[in-house]
Amino acid sequence: MKKSIVVGFFAAICFAFVTITGKYNGDEPEHIAPSKQRTGNAAKGFNYLITGDYLKSGIPYSLYTLATPKDTNNFLQRTGNNKNLQHDFTAVKAPNGELVVAPNCLQCHAQVFDGKLVVGLGNSLSDYTVNREGAALFAETLLKKLTGSEVKKYEAARNFIVSVKTIAPQLIAPVKGVNLADRLAYLLVSHRDPQTLQWSDQNLMALPDDIIPTDVPAWWLLKKKNAMFYNGFGRGDFGRFLMASNLLTVSGTAEAIEVDSHFNDVLAYINSIQPPPYPKPIDAAKATEGKTIFMASCKKCHGTYGADATYPNLLIPASIIKTDSMLYTANYSNPQFIEWFNKSWFTTGDHPAKLVPYRGYIAPPLDGIWVTAPYMHNGSVPNLEAMLNSKIRPAYWQRSFSNPGYNYDIPGWNFITKTEPGDSEVYNTTLKGYSNKGHYFGDKFSKEERLALIEYLKTL
Ligand code: HEC
Ligand code: HEC
Repeated sequence: MKKSIVVGFFAAICFAFVTITGKYNGDEPEHIAPSKQRTGNAAKGFNYLITGDYLKSGIPYSLYTLATPKDTNNFLQRTGNNKNLQHDFTAVKAPNGELVVAPNCLQCHAQVFDGKLVVGLGNSLSDYTVNREGAALFAETLLKKLTGSEVKKYEAARNFIVSVKTIAPQLIAPVKGVNLADRLAYLLVSHRDPQTLQWSDQNLMALPDDIIPTDVPAWWLLKKKNAMFYNGFGRGDFGRFLMASNLLTVSGTAEAIEVDSHFNDVLAYINSIQPPPYPKPIDAAKATEGKTIFMASCKKCHGTYGADATYPNLLIPASIIKTDSMLYTANYSNPQFIEWFNKSWFTTGDHPAKLVPYRGYIAPPLDGIWVTAPYMHNGSVPNLEAMLNSKIRPAYWQRSFSNPGYNYDIPGWNFITKTEPGDSEVYNTTLKGYSNKGHYFGDKFSKEERLALIEYLKTL
């Protein structure tokens, strides 16, 4: 009798311990379970992505083409009204029949690399240092002067202009190259009712002071991932997140439902993209040496590659990864964004999505890693050698945005190390959210071992 009480007592303690450690998202990597996705048609998805009307408001075509030089590259080989537009804009019909030009996903999810457009490569050349409010106000003034049947032009542009002029002053980065999509998403939802998606000129949520900078993940990684975004908080139906750009100009849930019905196809397209293969010779013996190191030190988080590829889908807690914390802490210091989303239209219907915060980051697949510099979720590390040796990471580094050069040997951007902060072309890792600390897993190796690892990474 006595014995069973003692056993029971210990069992109770153990149970309490498990309960406590289970709740504490603490010191062990956490596996992310898959969620159900819709199936779709990749070819249709691509066509919708580059010609579709997921934004239904924009600058009137006639005004846009007057103000912008013709783009003669036509990288996407589009026809008709899109033929002479840059790849990251699309001509669409507004609901009132007017032709307008709206930005598309390739603003952030494509980059011209060595003269070719790579769709799905995160654009690491974006420039958020400029306030676009002036341009929006200028367009508004011009369009409001129109009379007669021309007033339809202003009508077609109104949602776009109102949105841009409201958010532009809050969407400014101190340096070029980082992306402010997280801030953009925050600003957009803060002006919309979560259920009806109706716009409000009033800000409905407190605005955080800090503006979070990120890099842009490559689209070809998503097919392996069970959660979206650097901190892995995007769960449930991915299409619901893919369509979020629609919040820029959406008029209500009827429009959202129509746009949503295309994003199963867009997901199918994104899942079909392969990374560009490394285009130069690879030293096979060195790569084999590197693979041995990778299998011993990196595989447990980043998976294996080649014929029997595996990917563990792990969230790595802050206590282990130790990289800049701003992106995930924002979800706890300013939970309004997650609260908005988790009670919004996006969580309704038969393919809901939800946001699940975590104190840490997903260990990403490394396919095509040679071409996706700069590295880390905030783009703070210019090349792979510095990624694998924290001691040589530059605090201030400068690259050219007008004539960017890439290093194929040590994959990453050509850059100059600076001794102090400079103009907007100098990445400044001392700014809040821009730190290059953490991920010390490559530090223990010799220079030779690191070069072998890099040779192997080129094969992924
Ligand atoms: C203003 C820039 C911008 C635009 C426009 C944009 N995105 Fe993104 N996208 C980002 C950034 C930045 C992230 C990463 C954010 C994070 O993880 O915190 C992201 C993340 C994603 C991801 C997640 C990838 C992963 O591996 O987790 C997908 C997929 C995606 N976007 C698809 C789209 C689609 C489709 C569109 C157009 C309908 C679009 N995006 C428009 C900037 C943008
Ligand atoms: C404990 C898990 C873990 C181990 C071990 C690990 N990594 Fe990582 N790795 C991560 C996480 C998490 C990130 C994302 C960090 C961030 O962006 O804040 C990352 C990021 C990276 C990146 C940059 C990805 C990008 O697109 O910016 C590279 C390259 C990389 N790791 C290579 C390696 C190599 C090579 C090894 C072995 C020497 C290794 N990692 C070991 C978890 C790990």
